[in-house]
Amino acid sequence: MKLQPVRGTRDIIAEEARLFREIENRFMEIAKIYDFSEIETPIFEFTSVFKRTLGDASDIVNKEMYTFEDRSGDSLTLRPEGTASVARAVISNSLLRDLPLKLFYSGPMFRHERPQKGRYRQFRQFGVELIGVENPLADIEVIAFAWDFFKSFNLLSKVVLEINTIGDVESRENYKKSLVDYFSRHKEKLSPESQERLTHNPLRILDSKDESDKEIILKAPPFSDHLNSESQMIFKNVLEGLSELGIQYHINPRLVRGLDYYSHTVFEFTTQHLGAQNAVLSGGRYNHLIEQMGGPSTPGVGWAAGTDRLSLLLEKPSPLGTSVAVLATDPGGEKEMLKTLQHLRALKIPSQPIYSGNISKQLKKADKRNCSHAVLIGSDEVVQKIYQLKDLKTGAQKSLSLETLLSELKGLAGV
Ligand code: HAM
Repeated sequence: MKLQPVRGTRDIIAEEARLFREIENRFMEIAKIYDFSEIETPIFEFTSVFKRTLGDASDIVNKEMYTFEDRSGDSLTLRPEGTASVARAVISNSLLRDLPLKLFYSGPMFRHERPQKGRYRQFRQFGVELIGVENPLADIEVIAFAWDFFKSFNLLSKVVLEINTIGDVESRENYKKSLVDYFSRHKEKLSPESQERLTHNPLRILDSKDESDKEIILKAPPFSDHLNSESQMIFKNVLEGLSELGIQYHINPRLVRGLDYYSHTVFEFTTQHLGAQNAVLSGGRYNHLIEQMGGPSTPGVGWAAGTDRLSLLLEKPSPLGTSVAVLATDPGGEKEMLKTLQHLRALKIPSQPIYSGNISKQLKKADKRNCSHAVLIGSDEVVQKIYQLKDLKTGAQKSLSLETLLSELKGLAGV
């Protein structure tokens, strides 16, 4: 049997890896403009970091965590997401004295889900957390960041910002009661999964994908009837701020998100282009997470995006610039070829050696490797201290001194 990576994991190679980098580099550029600083947390934590915070009844904690006992007998978990780790880190490092904290991160996350297009067991996320600001201005700021990110890749026509509020604890408890009441009346028709959720996590029934559930959900009482006036006001402020910035949104009253730490604003940028895995970036407000983890009561809001899903949406990285091929036309030119490459690279001119073959084969290879020009060096050139520069598009060739060669190539590379 052919040697394969573990199911749900994959190797990201060459073009795809370049696209991943491009996506995350762009994210980091915007993070800088928005004044966010980087945080890198370990990829595994004590299991307790995720267990209670994400919710005992959440899918992640229930069925998807990679949890294991290490050699010291500690229960550890490969991080399934970044927010709980960041909350843990800001408490561990006593960062909460100087608020607000504006942090960004990127890296691999692990969830034992059923693999399919856009859904993997190891996947990359990048995300932001704005900690310490209760004002809806913070919600607006992180959403504007996400909006700018999609805009920078020309993706605004492919994604929709869906937004909702799940209110404060009081509103949510009231709503849960009325949902349990409603769904209990239709219990027999609900899918087994939703029946289970009725006792543990009634809100999540709202985003069930089951067809018969969907019909029942359609007539479920709306959250808006149970939002207290403060929660309504907060949501109104968020929406007004978004409109002020020209950020288009779609209110989705069924959007509840699968993690327990959320309150008030929840949102997702979804797309129709990736089949079932339609969320490319998701987030929301979490005003009780840090307190729940033993820190002082501190609000937060943030989001994370899936690099793998975004790469499927973008398909290809920006084209690579051209490179200069340097080749030895006989063994006597090889040392000079190395030295010439050293000169070119010192000037930051992208360049590469062609390692073998007769001259015509070498030129073909250079063309295949997207080189615009080739520098040809043989024993004669070494003796005469000249270099042949060939334009691979036109075939024109000229003899140049090292100085002119370098200045010409510098101009062509635009460095
Ligand atoms: P999440 O919705 O669980 O939220 O994940 C965020 C994003 O990660 C999703 O929108 C999706 O693009 C990507 N993603 C999730 N699971 C997979 C998977 N199995 N394969 C590929 N991509 C995936 C969170 O993780 C929250 N921590 C977001 C947040 C930050 N909320 C507040 N701050």
